[in-house]
Amino acid sequence: MKNLSYTFIILILAFLYAACSSNNHQSVFHPKGLWLDNNGVHINAHGGGMLYNNGIYYWFGEHKIEGEAGNIAHVGVHCYSSENLQEWTDEGIALSVAPEGSGSDIEKGCILERPKVVYNAATKKYVMWFHLELKGEEYSAARSGVAISDKITGPYNFIRSLRPNGEMARDMTVFIDDDATAYHIFSSEDNKTTHIAELSDDYLSHTGKYVRVFPERYMEAPAVFKRNGNYYFIGSGCTGWAPNAARSAIAQSIWGPWTELGNPCRGENAELTFGAQSTYVQKVHGKEDLYIFMADEWRPENAIDGRYVWLPISFEEEKPVINWQTEWKMD
Ligand code: GAL
Repeated sequence: MKNLSYTFIILILAFLYAACSSNNHQSVFHPKGLWLDNNGVHINAHGGGMLYNNGIYYWFGEHKIEGEAGNIAHVGVHCYSSENLQEWTDEGIALSVAPEGSGSDIEKGCILERPKVVYNAATKKYVMWFHLELKGEEYSAARSGVAISDKITGPYNFIRSLRPNGEMARDMTVFIDDDATAYHIFSSEDNKTTHIAELSDDYLSHTGKYVRVFPERYMEAPAVFKRNGNYYFIGSGCTGWAPNAARSAIAQSIWGPWTELGNPCRGENAELTFGAQSTYVQKVHGKEDLYIFMADEWRPENAIDGRYVWLPISFEEEKPVINWQTEWKMD
């Protein structure tokens, strides 16, 4: 009898321990912490974006290397997958830079930033857009690149680079609306003004329809999402790798008018976006109203060590608010 109750107690303790540790492991986010993948390596997907597909989140971002050299593309776009947004499996390099001397626009040594992948249900292709600067030309080319794959994790085949609608394009994102129309949103006109440009049905080119928004506001690092029928924009100012105050805006149509709502950040170092810069906003599936703000704390002197700042967005009326937290849980 005594033995039986000991076994029972031990079983209960083991169950509680397992429940607590799996909960901790799966749902605690540590902004700015080292974030290890399934191989115990710090996740290497900077300036990233997310694609949710069949119950799995795919995180695509810039693969950086050590030192200042890490700010230019030596490898390409790295992909990770996760069921819970917390534990990430390395899926390898989704888009590789072309070999040195190949003459490709994405030759090793180019600058390839802020990749975003979307799925086109009509063509059944995965399409990746990114900011591209040609090798040896610093940030003067101001182009966008597009690549395509049959498989979400790649390999992606580079198609071409271009200036969307003939206009300069640097920091960028892609937003898909409920009717499957895709919009390419980028810092244009030497970063002064944001362009929101419609993509063709196959997502591979621009239709020519676009609007200029936030004129002379030097918005960068755009992240766009939709909630309760409203379109939201979160971005940054234009100060290179150094952090500045985030901006937010709302609109009832993707074409605008867009109304600025100010810096959504609150708490320690909110005036510098907690030392980070926006890159994406992801809605958490299966949660009523949970959107995660995803940002990069850049470490340009050792680019590979850049950290991720993911925080939940709350809403005060319609205004997005991002509170600093050293750690937080999904629920
Ligand atoms: C930032 C931009 C980054 C990167 C950096 C280079 O403003 O958001 O993606 O281009 O400048 O200095």
